[in-house]
Parts: sequence; C-alpha cells; structure tokens
Amino acid sequence: MSGFSSEWLGLREPVDHAARSEEVISALRHYFLNDWKLVIADIGSGTGSTIRALRPVIGQDLTWHLIDHDDSLLAEARKHAEGDRVMFTESDLSQRLDAIFKPAPDLITTSAFLDLVSHDWLEKFVREVTIREIPFYAALSYDGRTSCNPPNDIDREILSAFNKHQQTDKGFGPALGPDAADTAIELFETAGYIVCKSKSDWKAGADHNEFQRQLLSGWREAAIEILPDSRQVFDLWLDERLALIDENENSVLVGHKDFLAVPKDR
Ligand SMILES: C[S@@+](CC[C@H](N)C(=O)[O-])C[C@H]1O[C@@H](n2cnc3c(N)ncnc32)[C@H](O)[C@@H]1O
Repeated sequence: MSGFSSEWLGLREPVDHAARSEEVISALRHYFLNDWKLVIADIGSGTGSTIRALRPVIGQDLTWHLIDHDDSLLAEARKHAEGDRVMFTESDLSQRLDAIFKPAPDLITTSAFLDLVSHDWLEKFVREVTIREIPFYAALSYDGRTSCNPPNDIDREILSAFNKHQQTDKGFGPALGPDAADTAIELFETAGYIVCKSKSDWKAGADHNEFQRQLLSGWREAAIEILPDSRQVFDLWLDERLALIDENENSVLVGHKDFLAVPKDR
C-alpha cells in the first residue's frame, strides 16, 4: 500500500490531464514522429493515468509497462486498461530499479512521482536511464508555487509548512519535493541530454470543489505535522477555505513542471 488512494488519484486526474503541458507532449510526439511501435515503462504509475493522458495524442501500437509498489492501485489500473496492451509489475522502486528495464523500454514516463524521490535515488535513476540512452517524460512534478484565491494572511505559513513536508522522507530518503524537476533536468543535461520543459500548473476552481476540499485538507494535515503548535490556526484556515469552497468562491493554483529529456544524438 502507499499513501495514495485510487479515489484521490481519480479526483486529481481531470485536473492533472488539463494541466499537462501541450508543449512537452508535442515535443514527445515530434521526437518519435511516426515511430509509435514502442514499449513504454511508466514508473509510479498508480492507476495508469499516463496511459489515459497519452492515449488520445499518440499512436496505437504501444506496449505499456506499469510499475508501482501498490498492488491495489495496479489492480485498479488493470480494470481501466482493457483494450490496451499493458504489463503490470509490483515493485518497490526505492529498493531496486531493474523492473524498469525489463523489458527494455523505448521511453520511460512518470507523473506526480519525481517529487517523492531523494537526490541519491534520482542520481542513480538518471545514470541508469542515460547509459541506456532512453528518453524520459516526467509530468506534473510539484514545484512549490502554490496560491489560493482569495488570498489570506495564513496562506503563506501553511504553504511554507506544506513545502517543508514535501521534503520529508516519502520512502526514498529525504524527498526532493519542489526541487525535483529542476534537479532532474540538471542531471539529464549534465549527462548530455536535451530537455524540453514547461509549466503544468493545476488550476482548480468551482468545477473541482471536492478535489479542492481534499487537497486543502491534505495541506492542513501536512502543515500540522511540521508545525504542531499551529494546529488551531490551521484548523481555522481550513474551515474558512471549506466555507468558501461551499460557496464556489475558492480557487487554487498549484505549480508543476513537465519535461521531456532525450539523448542528444537522436
Ligand atoms: C501521486 S501518485 C501518482 C500516480 C500516477 N502516476 C498518477 O499520475 O496518477 C504517486 C505514485 O507513486 C507510487 N509510489 C510511491 N512510492 C513508490 C515506490 N517506492 N515504488 C514504486 N511506486 C511508488 C505510489 O504508489 C503512487 O501510485
């Protein structure tokens, strides 16, 4: 099991899909041109959101390999995957990377996963990917730019505590959190890859009230873990935000980055 329920991933999915950078997807399409007979390994796949995001934009002849340590999310992915050619591997990627490379992928993808990993893990991963010259598409890495509308005095405190929480251990050692995408991009560029990057911010308003409720409740919980003495202030903050959501008057912007990293000579 992981801390990500399929219900929460389901609520996120429309917001995620709307946020994914068209520019990066277009670079991906351009990179492979008509060469769509591909094996794609999706790491930290959850219920297979990346398949559903890319299905409308890329060709048909794909074999997906979904890798996650949470068997219940993979079981959910299996239900969604009818009609697709998909393999499933339950593997704890914090311990070993070998599942990613068997079968040998033409492309590795991930979404909303990189911010969980540590610097050491990322270095090792980038080394293993770049020695094999495999392109890597990473969507929706949280980058720390978050704001609520209408703004209030407590936002800064809760969001800074939340960002600190993002850098606590998520199973891989101290997490990169908001630094993940920039660190990964630097590592790939140092290894000689070319990178196309762009923002992929979540923008959620009255159309996504249940998503907002759960998101903000999660921020409160994380912020209290970092600043337990501020519990009352954060409770009040959440109550006010939930009231605004009930009146369709709250919206959030959550900063993310997408990037595609490809070997230089292809
Ligand atoms: C935020 S979710 C994103 C899921 C999916 N990529 C999406 O965009 O909906 C993070 C995913 O990483 C997986 N994960 C976390 N730690 C992992 C680990 N050590 N090994 C493999 N998967 C892991 C979780 O189970 C979860 O599916």
